Amino acid sequence: MISPTPLPLEKSTSTPDGRFQTVYLDSPEFSSGLEGQDVIEGLTQSPKVLPPKYFYDDRGSQLFEQICGLPEYYPTRTEAWILQHYARAIAQATGACELVELGSGSSTKTRLLLDAYQAQGHPLYYQPIDVSAGILADSAAQLLTDYPTLQVQALVGTYGQALNALPTPARAPRLLLFLGSSLGNFTPLECDQFFAQVASVLEAGDYFLLGIDLQKDTAILEAAYNDCQGVTAAFNLNMLAHLNYRFTGNFNLEAFHHQAIYNPEDCQIEMYLRCQQPQSVQLKTLDLSIELTPGESIRTEISRKFNLEQMQHYLQVQGLSPVQTWTDPMQWFGVILCRR
Ligand code: AVI
Repeated sequence: MISPTPLPLEKSTSTPDGRFQTVYLDSPEFSSGLEGQDVIEGLTQSPKVLPPKYFYDDRGSQLFEQICGLPEYYPTRTEAWILQHYARAIAQATGACELVELGSGSSTKTRLLLDAYQAQGHPLYYQPIDVSAGILADSAAQLLTDYPTLQVQALVGTYGQALNALPTPARAPRLLLFLGSSLGNFTPLECDQFFAQVASVLEAGDYFLLGIDLQKDTAILEAAYNDCQGVTAAFNLNMLAHLNYRFTGNFNLEAFHHQAIYNPEDCQIEMYLRCQQPQSVQLKTLDLSIELTPGESIRTEISRKFNLEQMQHYLQVQGLSPVQTWTDPMQWFGVILCRR
């Protein structure tokens, strides 16, 4: 298999040919009994917030895949355009690499990179990391069929868990992918902590490829998070269904409306679930009861929009030196290749 170093495994499965392994990372939150502490903290503060990680049960991951294909949601296709045009340049800049991807989802864009590494005759090793075991299994099955020499080790867990557990690469260097502007869902403090962790996990000479959504017209941004078909609304509401399932709760989904607005001061889209009628909510396994009043909102996500030059400077300061940067003709999205 790919990794010579043992992982802190909770559970691991492997195909008989050894080309595909799934590793379920141990959840310290779960084993320490702190699971859901972030929900309690978020729902007992004012204004109420919920961590965006609870979007991503299997249904949430599927809805997010649908969002990526919506006409209004430009980030996915714009980043894909950049990778279609520059994946060869990326593979040339790094040479042979082990690809590790945080929040891999369906791995659709990763194929552009796999194609480029394959075309240059490099062996293909891929470690997708996602909280959804279902989406990892589905996308790996397809990848293994389409790339007959590919080896996949899927890690089921959060970014933090995976970065803590990342095995020493069998073949240096490593290319850590963080695409889709998932960075935008972190607060500035979480960004600092994330980059510090990335910089400490990567070894000198490893690469980091970051995709970020850039600042643009409010109308374009708000349309992207308020699509006509209501998929983003369903994605937002699904968080409550997920919490009901996970913590034996009774959120009434019909009592909430999806709302997404751009906050120009903080350069971020803010997504809310706005309560339409009074509600008493219990999450039994968390021993939590809260009251919601009509008009009250729960903030479920921020999606920050960045300035490319500021980000390059920030990365440099964090010890992740930008090597090359690519953007699209409208300058809506940026992809930065950094070297540790
Ligand atoms: C995953 N993340 C980068 C998406 C975003 O655009 O912030 C999540 C999303 N939320 C609503 N639409 C998409």
